[in-house]
Amino acid sequence: MSNQTQTPDIDAPQLPSKADHPAGKCLMSRRKFLLSSGVATSTVMVSMNGGMAMAKVPAIMTTYPRKKIGKLSALKTDKPVGFEYPDEGAYAQSMLVKLGVEAGGGVGQQKDVVAFNYFCTHQGGDLSGTYKADTKSLGACPLHLSTYDLTRHGILISGQAYQSLPQVLLELKGDDIYAVGVFGLIFGRYDNLQG
Ligand code: FES
Repeated sequence: MSNQTQTPDIDAPQLPSKADHPAGKCLMSRRKFLLSSGVATSTVMVSMNGGMAMAKVPAIMTTYPRKKIGKLSALKTDKPVGFEYPDEGAYAQSMLVKLGVEAGGGVGQQKDVVAFNYFCTHQGGDLSGTYKADTKSLGACPLHLSTYDLTRHGILISGQAYQSLPQVLLELKGDDIYAVGVFGLIFGRYDNLQG
């Protein structure tokens, strides 16, 4: 009989990974972006309701210009309207559209009005004119066919890109629609607010 004691298996537990899922990559990279962006940011304490008690946790805020980009009453379902945001520089061209179905980040009574940057996150293919009313998507990209779902924060449906399309965050005041931020990094920029 052997005196050797058995060594317990100390392999690290296998945690589920989202790394291979396009949506997972999208969420991770956006979180990283929001946490690492160094321009026009400040650290503030925000209240989180953890169930039992309110806790103060640090959060990083990025300040974007607030820009009026249209009127809700003027939008027609599935007819995109162009605008530029957050400035008038390269790759700022974006689109505002009433999808006719509820969407992530949507404003309006049906939460169906959303806005996205027009440039493919892969290599900057121009997606203007590629809106598809039947699938509520942008694409296919003219360069390598990436297609993005506008009902789900611009996640990739298919193609070469692995980051979601930057979503322009909207606010509604009365009938006026304002762009107030960008969720994701615009192609060709190291930060969205470069001067
Ligand atoms: S640039 Fe759009 S898929 Fe490559």
